[in-house]
Amino acid sequence: MQSALDFISWQEVINHGKFLIFKTIPLLFAASTITFITSHLIEKIRISNFRSKRRGTAVITGGTSGIGLEFSKLFARDKIDLVLVSNDPKEEVELVRKSLVEKFGVKVICESCNLSKNEDRLATFDRILNQLEVKADYLVNNAGFGMVGELQKLEWNQVNDMIQVNSTAVVHVAHAFVNDAINRKSSLKMITTSSLAGVQPNPLFNVYASTKAFTRLFAMASHVELAKYNITSTALLPGATLTNFVKRSKYDTIGKYTSVAKLTPEEVAACGYYHMMNGHSVAVPGLIYKFLHFLMWISPSDIMMNLFYNQNKPSQ
Ligand SMILES: NC(=O)c1ccc[n+]([C@@H]2O[C@H](COP(=O)([O-])OP(=O)(O)OC[C@H]3O[C@@H](n4cnc5c(N)ncnc54)[C@H](OP(=O)(O)O)[C@@H]3O)[C@@H](O)[C@H]2O)c1
Repeated sequence: MQSALDFISWQEVINHGKFLIFKTIPLLFAASTITFITSHLIEKIRISNFRSKRRGTAVITGGTSGIGLEFSKLFARDKIDLVLVSNDPKEEVELVRKSLVEKFGVKVICESCNLSKNEDRLATFDRILNQLEVKADYLVNNAGFGMVGELQKLEWNQVNDMIQVNSTAVVHVAHAFVNDAINRKSSLKMITTSSLAGVQPNPLFNVYASTKAFTRLFAMASHVELAKYNITSTALLPGATLTNFVKRSKYDTIGKYTSVAKLTPEEVAACGYYHMMNGHSVAVPGLIYKFLHFLMWISPSDIMMNLFYNQNKPSQ
């Protein structure tokens, strides 16, 4: 008895294979690119039209500059009162407070706190939660800074402060405000500003990227862990954004920062705000960075590490 294969020559099988490779794969690639771009455009429209109808109070760390300040403006626009925790000079903070109150008519409390210090954090939580009796409905765990360069050439005290602010303080802040929300049997929406730098090992931006990998995992696991308390947690993963961060991390001194695509703090905060309010676990702002995020997931670490090493190396 003859099988179906007997009627198909090997040449035909090879031709079919060629058809699959040269016709179907490019078609699939085109279809996924169109889907990718369309879903980004839909997200963009949703973000720009989004307004929160739920009022309440938002606590924002690093809420007086950069991405944090843009978060503050979005909450204030939607008539949500603010508690801003930062280390900025008093005069600057007062200017920000005044402009938010005048423009949006919300209540704004500013608390000065060096988040790298455990005692400072404890005193600030006590003041906000017990003395001012703030009941947070939203928490933006955003303060942080970076340092570029070889670990051995960085000052230990500064490296330690960076680990404290970017990682320890993030968990400490979440611990304090999540506990309070659970005790009050109240819901809470939380977002943590991590970074795309926390997706792959990042030579010469090593410790910073490692702190951001830590907060990315922390924010995402919290999303599942806290769901039963009606608490959501979103990891915000921005790429390069034009804020004080660039200067403070000394990234501008290596001469290459200007060559990469840059986001504005407004678009980063708007993306984070939308995904936080909708209780999503991850937010990646910007089409190019969404694509980079995808590439980072599928690329071997060895390749990515070499790319980052060259990117972070000072220009000759
Ligand atoms: N810009 C980027 O390219 C980029 C990319 C990915 C992720 N991020 C992350 O985005 C977050 C916000 O940064 P940004 O870009 O908006 O930069 P930014 O304008 O420098 O804002 C950082 C904020 O964190 C505060 N902060 C830093 N150290 C602090 C401390 N010890 N105690 C209290 N507050 C402290 C800063 O206050 P002081 O100025 O008073 O210290 C400032 O308000 C950071 O977590 C950063 O890692 C930034």
